[in-house]
Amino acid sequence: ATANQDLDVVVIGAGPGGYVAAIKAAQLGLKTACIDKRGPPGGTCLNVGCIPSKALLNNSHIYHTIKEDTKNRGIEVSDAKINFGQFMKSKEDAVNGLTGGVRMLFKKNKVDYYEGSGSFVNENTIEVDMNDGSDKVTLNAKNVIIATGSEPTTFPGIEIDEERIVTSTGILSLKEIPKSLTIIGGGIIGLEMGSVWARLGTKVTVVEFMPSIGGAGMDAELSKTALKILKKQGMNFQLQTKVMGAKRDGDIVKIDVEDAKGNKSELESEVLLVAVGRRPYTEGLGLDKVGIETDKKGRVVMDSEYRTKYPHVRVIGDVTFGPMLAHKAEDEGIAAAEYIKNGYGHVNYNVIPSVMYTHPEFAWVGQNEQELKDAGIKYNVGKFSFAANSRAKTNLDTEGFVKVLADKETDRILGVHIAGPNAGEMIGEAGLALEYGAAAEDVARTCHAHPTLSEALKEACLAAFDKPINS
Ligand code: FAD
Ligand code: NAI
Repeated sequence: ATANQDLDVVVIGAGPGGYVAAIKAAQLGLKTACIDKRGPPGGTCLNVGCIPSKALLNNSHIYHTIKEDTKNRGIEVSDAKINFGQFMKSKEDAVNGLTGGVRMLFKKNKVDYYEGSGSFVNENTIEVDMNDGSDKVTLNAKNVIIATGSEPTTFPGIEIDEERIVTSTGILSLKEIPKSLTIIGGGIIGLEMGSVWARLGTKVTVVEFMPSIGGAGMDAELSKTALKILKKQGMNFQLQTKVMGAKRDGDIVKIDVEDAKGNKSELESEVLLVAVGRRPYTEGLGLDKVGIETDKKGRVVMDSEYRTKYPHVRVIGDVTFGPMLAHKAEDEGIAAAEYIKNGYGHVNYNVIPSVMYTHPEFAWVGQNEQELKDAGIKYNVGKFSFAANSRAKTNLDTEGFVKVLADKETDRILGVHIAGPNAGEMIGEAGLALEYGAAAEDVARTCHAHPTLSEALKEACLAAFDKPINS
């Protein structure tokens, strides 16, 4: 092994949690190293998650718009075709540009980046097994941040080959456009990836165990709207249906399903995507060596300051509690670095936005109607449809609505739920309103530019305590 390095902070994992924690720690004047065995930094999000999926979503949306939605706009296109090689390359370019950017940020902030696998030797020593086969590196760490992320949950009895039977990783790198795709799981991954391939002409069937789609947390009205719109876009849904098993048979995959009444049937498609959730990843980290605990779901156990049983070993992101979202991991990375340097840090878990990047987008922040009912909180509902919003009308893109839930007595905004174009951008304003404890009236009395989609949020706020103007 090479000479020991003495460091203030060693971060294991360079995903949105780890790389942000490392940069923040370095900015706070702490001598910091970050380790990732993937090679390129950026974790799941930049390499096989948020970024490549959004590249495919955006380009498939542009293609679909050109094919299906130009005539009424006075644009005549004779022949829109997919050049699949270039289509996938533009996704790779986005990924490489961003992972290269993280490498530059590491250099700029003087974070030592190790491409290799990190594991605990003891609670203050991390050994790095280098990817290039060079000597193992031993890092002595005053503080450790575990940010090892998550991996796709497997399905008992279904063997993944990442070619015909794929996880979210394989579906982002298919070799050709499949004629047919079955998706197990109508959660966010299933609906985003289903949208991509359906737009390119694939026959998509989503098999979902629950009676609704969108996964846990999506407001029921948003979920129903998503189902209606995605069906209209050509996606097929088999709800309340269980997958029992699946096998590859040459170039097709045979999938056994059973509906709520116990009727069994077989589906066939060229590709099967298993998207039934993600689970924390701690393999090879050596947690057992130092006795750091994980719970039944495999999440590394921590306290409210991200500390494991060792106060100097902290844990953030997908590998621990909370929603598995990049921006949640990032904010925890900053808070963890601040705890180390200053002894305090903060993430407001009541204001973490969720976005599903289909078209239209679905975005929400704060509590949904069911959560408010369960908590016995009385609320007003302010709703405004994009069909009455001037910009959405101008853009011929009017599906969806904004729904604002505000406390019946105080008018304080408790939750905002948006189905609509650019909902993911608009939810930022709603998050700021919640963070600062705004009343619906505060937002309604804030001057919004015209014509913009965000006027729909303003009008929904107006509707929550008074009457909207434009509907
Ligand atoms: P990760 O990003 O998983 O990073 C952990 C890193 O640690 C990995 O690179 C891994 O190689 C490394 N590692 C693990 N063990 C070791 C070890 N022992 N030694 C060295 N390195 C190790 N979230 C959003 O907010 N928005 C989205 O649009 C979005 N889209 C997604 C789309 C898909 C298809 C998927 C799969 C996920 C998506 N997510 C999205 C979720 C998001 O990717 C995760 O929430 C986020 O990446 C979690 O960040 P993290 O830093 O906790 O872990
Ligand atoms: P998910 O938890 O969102 O959805 C999984 C779905 O599969 C659920 O609806 C569940 O009922 C269903 N399911 C489970 N077992 C099943 C079975 N046997 N048969 C049929 N259906 C079954 O998980 P998903 O979509 O895999 O995504 C994982 C995580 O990745 C998300 O929870 C999210 O945190 C993150 N992500 C975030 C994105 C974003 O922010 N835009 C995009 C993609 C992923």
